[in-house]
Amino acid sequence: MGRLEGKVALVTGSAAGIGQAIAWRYAREGAQVLATDISSEMDETVAQGEGRIVAAHCDVTDPKSIQSCVAQCIDRFGGIDVMCNNAGFPAPLVPVDELRFEDWKRSYSVNVDGVFHGIQAAAPHMKEKGGAIINMASIGSVKALPNLAAYASSKAAVMQLTKVAALDLGKYGIRVNAIGPGYIRTTFGGGYSDEVAEMLAEQNPMGRIGEPDDVAGVALFLASDDARWVNGAMHFVCGGSSAL
Ligand SMILES: NC(=O)c1ccc[n+]([C@@H]2O[C@H](COP(=O)([O-])OP(=O)(O)OC[C@H]3O[C@@H](n4cnc5c(N)ncnc54)[C@H](O)[C@@H]3O)[C@@H](O)[C@H]2O)c1
Repeated sequence: MGRLEGKVALVTGSAAGIGQAIAWRYAREGAQVLATDISSEMDETVAQGEGRIVAAHCDVTDPKSIQSCVAQCIDRFGGIDVMCNNAGFPAPLVPVDELRFEDWKRSYSVNVDGVFHGIQAAAPHMKEKGGAIINMASIGSVKALPNLAAYASSKAAVMQLTKVAALDLGKYGIRVNAIGPGYIRTTFGGGYSDEVAEMLAEQNPMGRIGEPDDVAGVALFLASDDARWVNGAMHFVCGGSSAL
């Protein structure tokens, strides 16, 4: 029996990368999954979903869009147990004095407002039975990353939003946790060239960069009942980089 048998999960930003790996892992473990993204390229996500993934359009910057996806979960699957706020925006790599205000605002709009809207849309429907909310932060939530002022500071906000939400919602049995990935091999922000990936791997305590499925394993744990006493926690998935 899968670890998420009988549960319903919504994953944002799941057309590719980490969100896609999480949607697949949740489906493989028995959950019914609504995989959502602003991109309409969801065929691969659905195709490898073992018949348990349905795709829907969602722009996390728009509260109505997320609310409508939560409503779809309830109509189709009878509820929502797991909300994974994964979608993210990578601002261009530039020093803070050259960062365009539009990129700063877009980072906050997707990374912070998106998580806030996700929490607000899901929580009312979890109050009766409890639930798990998982927010995608970053190693940048605690490490100052050069040329990433908007991204790193927005991910610091995600970490603190997670902790406060955990305090506010714990009494309903709603657990709110964050994941802080280190460098993961996806096409986020254009992805890493082989050269950069090799350099990052050399700097990593475990000698490699991460894969999306490394993050999916932790997202599975946090969604499952094994994490029933885990609330308001930040989980780094970075091979030890956060300890450096
Ligand atoms: N790849 C890494 O090294 C890394 C490291 C730390 C944190 N993260 C975080 O992990 C999450 C997933 O990133 P990834 O590496 O899988 O990147 P990715 O680009 O493969 O996936 C991000 C997905 O989010 C979607 N998205 C963007 N804006 C959206 C919006 N407004 N509404 C809905 N969907 C939207 C994109 O279409 C894309 O499918 C992000 O929050 C990112 O910040 C990634």
